[in-house]
Amino acid sequence: MARLSTLLVAVAALTRHTCLAYPRALQASKVFLSGRDVDEQYDYIIVGGGTAGLTVADRLTEDGKNTVLVVEYGELSNSPLISTVQGGFMGMSDSQFLYDIQSVPQKNLQNRSIAVLAGKVVGGSSAVNAMMTVRGTAADYDRWGNFFGANSHWSWDGLLPYFKRALNFAPPDAAVTESAEITYDTSFWGNTSGVYAGWPSFQYPGTTAQMDAFRGIPGVPFVKDSGSGEPGVYWYPTFMDPTLVERSYARTGHHDKAANRTNYHLVAGSKVLKVVLDGTTATGVSFVPVGSKKDTPQTVVSARKEVIVAAGGIHSPQILQLSGIGPRELLSSANITTVVDLPGVGQNFQDHPIIQATFTYRKFTYRPTSQDLFLNATFSAWADTVWAANRTGPNSLATGNAAAWLPFPVISPRSADISSALAAQNHTLYLPADTDPTVAAGYRAQMLSYASALKENSTAFYNLVLTGGATNGIVVDLHPLSRGTVNIDVSDPYNKEPLVDYRALSNPMDVDIMTDLIKFTRRYHLDNPMTKEWAATELSPGASTQTDAQFADYLAETLSPSEFHPAGTCAMMPRELGGVVDEELKVYGVQGLRVVDAATMATLVGGNTCQTVYAIAEKAADLIRFGPPTVVE
Ligand SMILES: Cc1cc2nc3c(=O)[nH]c(=O)nc-3n(C[C@H](O)[C@H](O)[C@H](O)COP(=O)(O)OP(=O)(O)OC[C@H]3O[C@@H](n4cnc5c(N)ncnc54)[C@H](O)[C@@H]3O)c2cc1C
Ligand SMILES: *[C@@H]1O[C@H](CO)[C@@H](O)[C@H](O)[C@H]1NC(C)=O
Ligand SMILES: *[C@@H]1O[C@H](CO)[C@@H](O)[C@H](O)[C@H]1NC(C)=O
Ligand SMILES: *[C@@H]1O[C@H](CO)[C@@H](O)[C@H](O)[C@H]1NC(C)=O
Ligand SMILES: *[C@@H]1O[C@H](CO)[C@@H](O)[C@H](O)[C@H]1NC(C)=O
Ligand SMILES: *[C@@H]1O[C@H](CO)[C@@H](O)[C@H](O)[C@H]1NC(C)=O
Ligand SMILES: *[C@@H]1O[C@H](CO)[C@@H](O)[C@H](O)[C@H]1NC(C)=O
Ligand SMILES: *[C@@H]1O[C@H](CO)[C@@H](O)[C@H](O)[C@H]1NC(C)=O
Ligand SMILES: *[C@@H]1O[C@H](CO)[C@@H](O)[C@H](O)[C@H]1NC(C)=O
Repeated sequence: MARLSTLLVAVAALTRHTCLAYPRALQASKVFLSGRDVDEQYDYIIVGGGTAGLTVADRLTEDGKNTVLVVEYGELSNSPLISTVQGGFMGMSDSQFLYDIQSVPQKNLQNRSIAVLAGKVVGGSSAVNAMMTVRGTAADYDRWGNFFGANSHWSWDGLLPYFKRALNFAPPDAAVTESAEITYDTSFWGNTSGVYAGWPSFQYPGTTAQMDAFRGIPGVPFVKDSGSGEPGVYWYPTFMDPTLVERSYARTGHHDKAANRTNYHLVAGSKVLKVVLDGTTATGVSFVPVGSKKDTPQTVVSARKEVIVAAGGIHSPQILQLSGIGPRELLSSANITTVVDLPGVGQNFQDHPIIQATFTYRKFTYRPTSQDLFLNATFSAWADTVWAANRTGPNSLATGNAAAWLPFPVISPRSADISSALAAQNHTLYLPADTDPTVAAGYRAQMLSYASALKENSTAFYNLVLTGGATNGIVVDLHPLSRGTVNIDVSDPYNKEPLVDYRALSNPMDVDIMTDLIKFTRRYHLDNPMTKEWAATELSPGASTQTDAQFADYLAETLSPSEFHPAGTCAMMPRELGGVVDEELKVYGVQGLRVVDAATMATLVGGNTCQTVYAIAEKAADLIRFGPPTVVE
């Protein structure tokens, strides 16, 4: 059985699993597959049964009093493609669990279009993601609150209790902790959630070597626990149930728990078209069965208390715009009456770009690579035996558990210059020409915050994922400067997917920053006493890429603007900074309507986004139930 050395190789390789059979969708007592059986009225209606939506639904129904309806586009699936951990990316191997969206051609990427991936199943993207369980740094969360002033309850301290509530940390077993030299600190974690942060019972020896090798570069911090809010090199867990050794996600951890409650209903296979408004008050939602013809009658269900939009970074802005909440000119070009002119809806779009900087090692012999190990028939047979016996061994590994997350001054010799150049930019020049002044002001505030972060050591800009293999090539830019748009397709707004434009590299300083991310990766592999004996070869960009112009060409040819972390399109920012929701996640200008999901992140966090979405959702559930905190602890 071939081993997977990188995320991208994993994606390609997983197609071989598509022959597995999927059991029929499970129909639990309160899970409806059409609008037919749904009540006329609920206290809360949640649009989207994904990561955030199911978390909020679980918390709101916990006390047995509030009635909640979740309306989800995808189906409830028990497919092993979702539950299995082997490879960590199984959900991607079948298109039935993903929306079919291509980005608009990217002008600065030689007009390439990119597949826009988002989960389309009960559980949303938590059902299909790569299960990497990480947080951003404390500075990433403080940045959100700082857009509102010094006393916001959106801060690292304000979110830490919700990180603890969001996940149930199950430590790695003692043997692998010792052999791989894993470190962790349970004081950053909780142990009550139905969603688990677990660990495989095996690590490739090469992973530990790749981590150690950062000691050859002065100034690289090592962090004891991934949840500490500090940048550095660290181990992190997997969204995995430690007992079942299966994916743990919003469906297993929240929906399955809530499904027993009479006050919780979920209707699957149903596409919400819009939020129903009475004046500027949200009173319900309208939806149709997925795949139904254009004139199919809509089901309208009303909400006594609130509508909560949790359709993710791609679809939440679409639903607001279709409801008449968004940029007036865009809405009128689609013949949609503007209820609230909210220019930020669908703007400020961000995702983590993936840069290819691939190195292969000729010698890695003092620690065998994953590939070496699986070429050994004895090892391979052992792996299959222990997996069959008790789900231990190498097959319990999903995508990997180690990475470097480094601040810019640690990786770039010109961080101070880049910082001042970013501060001095006329930021508006890099937004679409017709951008509203409030949105431009918000972008400027973000860029000034990033200009500070680029010369400090509290925000991670660089991410290298470590896989223990003989090839390594996933470098992520954790804080891209360019901003895109997700807008309804005015040619057929209710039936077509939104137009997704990353506007990759539209801020030219992204090229400077990414160039330095590649140069640092080169340094790590080629100019580092700790990696000398690996005898690394640079596969890409390749030794001939040296000048600024050559790096710029290379990025235009190879950059992927998405690590599948769409965010920012319903930003939590002050309205005068182009924000869509306030600090209670309430949509400006509308009563009874919130957005709770990745769309609300004003700026991306320096980490994969799922754990942060769970924390946002846990905090939102408290805001909905109890209102804003009076004292920030
Ligand atoms: C392939 C992939 C790999 C990833 N890997 C990782 C990883 O390893 N680690 C990590 O931390 N993060 C990862 N992520 C990102 C992470 O999973 C997401 O950021 C997070 O799950 C988003 O949560 P959400 O609640 O915002 O949206 P989602 O979980 O996507 O939920 C949105 C839900 O709304 C539903 N919906 C949309 N439109 C409608 C409509 N009109 N009507 C009804 N329902 C609708 C969708 O079907 C979906 O179920 C990955 C994502 C993907 C796609
Ligand atoms: C990209 O498309 C635009 C518009 O069609 C065209 O003018 C331009 O030449 C194209 N660029 C490349 C590199 O193909
Ligand atoms: C759960 O966490 C609490 C608080 O940190 C701790 O007291 C308790 O021992 C933990 N329980 C388990 C089973 O680990
Ligand atoms: C950031 O860390 C690097 C490496 O340790 C150090 O040289 C630099 O002085 C630090 N910068 C700040 C602002 O602390
Ligand atoms: C749901 O209820 C049934 C019957 O009361 C019970 O057997 C089952 O354990 C419950 N499931 C959960 C997840 O609570
Ligand atoms: C909007 O209305 C005008 C006038 O009725 C019509 O010509 C146009 O096709 C409509 N556009 C859309 C997107 O429905
Ligand atoms: C193959 O793997 C087994 C078990 O892990 C080990 O004992 C043996 O030395 C390995 N053989 C080679 C040639 O590496
Ligand atoms: C798992 O099964 C293998 C093979 O039977 C056995 O050697 C090992 O001790 C078991 N591990 C655990 C944790 O039960
Ligand atoms: C910045 O660019 C915008 C858009 O081109 C322009 O209107 C504005 O005058 C510029 N501001 C400054 C200070 O140059």
